Amino acid sequence: PDENGIDGWLRYASLSSKLASQFKQYRSIIALSKDESSPVFTAAKEVQKGLNGILKQEVKIGHDLASKSQAEDTATIVIGTISAFSQAGKDVSNIPPLKEDGFWLNKDGNENVQILGQNERGALYGAFEFLMLLAQGKPCPSGHISNPSAPIRWVNQWDNLDGSIERGYAGPSIFFKDMVVREDLTRVSQYARLMASVGLNGIIVNNVNSHHELFSLKNLEGLGRIANAMRPWGVRIGVALFFDTPKTLAGLPTSDPLDPDVIAFWDRITAELHQHVPDLIGYLIKANSEGQPGPLTYGRTLAEGANLFAAALKRYGDGVVVYRAFVYNHHLDESNWKNDRANAAVEFFKDMDTLFADNVLVQIKYGPIDFQVREPTSPLFAHLRKTPAIIEFQVAQEYLGQQSHVCYLPPLWKTILDFDLRIDGESSPVHKILSGERFGWKQSGYASVVNVGSDSTWLGSHLAMSNLYAYGRYAWAPTSDAEDVIRDWTRLTFTSNPTVVDTVTSISMESWPTYENYSGNLGIQTLCEITKTCHYGPRPDSMDGNGWGQWTRADAHGIGMDRTVATGTGYAGQYPTEVAKMYEKIETTPDELLLWFHHVPYTQRLKSGKTVIQHFYDAHYEGAANAQTFAPRWEALRGLIDDARFKHVLFRLKYQAGHSLVWRDSVNNFYMDKCGIADEHGRVGHY
Ligand code: GCU
Repeated sequence: PDENGIDGWLRYASLSSKLASQFKQYRSIIALSKDESSPVFTAAKEVQKGLNGILKQEVKIGHDLASKSQAEDTATIVIGTISAFSQAGKDVSNIPPLKEDGFWLNKDGNENVQILGQNERGALYGAFEFLMLLAQGKPCPSGHISNPSAPIRWVNQWDNLDGSIERGYAGPSIFFKDMVVREDLTRVSQYARLMASVGLNGIIVNNVNSHHELFSLKNLEGLGRIANAMRPWGVRIGVALFFDTPKTLAGLPTSDPLDPDVIAFWDRITAELHQHVPDLIGYLIKANSEGQPGPLTYGRTLAEGANLFAAALKRYGDGVVVYRAFVYNHHLDESNWKNDRANAAVEFFKDMDTLFADNVLVQIKYGPIDFQVREPTSPLFAHLRKTPAIIEFQVAQEYLGQQSHVCYLPPLWKTILDFDLRIDGESSPVHKILSGERFGWKQSGYASVVNVGSDSTWLGSHLAMSNLYAYGRYAWAPTSDAEDVIRDWTRLTFTSNPTVVDTVTSISMESWPTYENYSGNLGIQTLCEITKTCHYGPRPDSMDGNGWGQWTRADAHGIGMDRTVATGTGYAGQYPTEVAKMYEKIETTPDELLLWFHHVPYTQRLKSGKTVIQHFYDAHYEGAANAQTFAPRWEALRGLIDDARFKHVLFRLKYQAGHSLVWRDSVNNFYMDKCGIADEHGRVGHY
């Protein structure tokens, strides 16, 4: 078995002979494509591999549907597109219409299996569904259809050309080294396999803080090789671009998006890139953000900046411009009570909605600040009607323990995806905006920052992989149950042993609330070090007194950001009326976001009856106490899973237990020093 983790949740460990005997002996896999680089062919090979691992069956791949009828007593697995199946003379009238990338999975009365996609990718996704059911000992369903919620289900790598990874905690990049694309892209193909298995269909391969060297001749050729490595898995690539490339690479005097030479430059780059990557998904752009140049630098609007690239892409395929909404001033003056970084995205983008070209999308972080342990849903989702949106999540646990703390993210994602923005007084849960349903968009969906590196565990921690798996599952089906997803992942990654499944599930389900308790509660954000940019470990004092705008406004008397319209920054008013009304008043603001929206005295009573400060003290004790239980609970799995992964996880859980105490005491002491209010239970203080 793969104890290093390269296969992630695709281990295909063999079923017990009792379970395996319930499955038919498969005689052949019929791939309705002979093109070895097509996802259909990939699917056939994957099913062959899976059957070999899970059922210990050796099954041949063929291409001829007709030959099947000669052996009616044996079961066959047919994989292809619905149209190929129909062209082979088969009846497809019983298959309901599918969305792009959707699939039909069917076992007939003779145990023959049909895995038919709306397109070739769909066939591959169906094959993975078949295998992941089989690996859990679950039978193939009959007449099962599955459609993705949204067409865009992408990953954003933050890999730098020098091989380092921004917010990377798992070794060097699998894509780049020494300013060029790596020669050996084996890991890139393996990564595409993991992505495809959970329905992810696109990837931006380099950091949003991009570099002009990306477009060197050598790298254009290298990007072509990356695209070739991922294409058989139905994964298409795109790139993040550096706005000033015309100046820094071509030596032009300006990068003004309306300058004819700049336009010609980007047209040329786009043409050259398409020679190597004809199916490019597009450009991702971070501009006028955290010191990056952008259209505003040249006195142009954000729409003018985006439309330059939209026009260049229009000449080729269906590539899109994804413009990040993460535009804000990071030299904000805290002495002005009205200043608020959280306001920035709506202020910058709300008037651009009708001005972007039709192949421009806006990518919005789930909350208005920056991947904090708890944030309200970004209000920008309520302002874009014509311009489609992509939500940005972060599997990379930048503010969430950096893969050294276990923090299973779906419960957090659900607070955002299920949130009803009540746009125009109508039901508007975020997942229905992202699916395109709410505003009739054709292209919209999901992106997540993922920091896989060269480490054999991919993310530096075996348990962190549940977030990558779950991200794909949620982009496909955003109303999934977080517990079902972790149970599936655990069975696939470790074993179906109930002790293992229950333990991993309970630790995972408790992990985010636990982390929130000992890091930052009541919507105060993750109280980590932010000025030295590591974003790790407790440093509540670093939140204020700088221009970054992740402020808590904590002083001797009170804490929290007043974001009301009446007396604060006005942020609450960026939401549609019903939601704005809820956040405007302390009484109607949920406790978990109290300090996000209101500046209150430490003695303010919560709905629970506790004061804010006592809640802080208690939550930090509770969170740290729960973190102490993880390692002992994991100990019960000794011998039930392989030793290598057992020890790897145990080591991290012990570390987390210790670090949670550091968090608890630093944060509690800091606030006790600020306000001088004693802990009712006498625990907090310097000893
Ligand atoms: C965060 C993160 C940066 C990143 C930025 C972004 O601020 O700390 O490393 O560049 O987000 O999303 O662009």
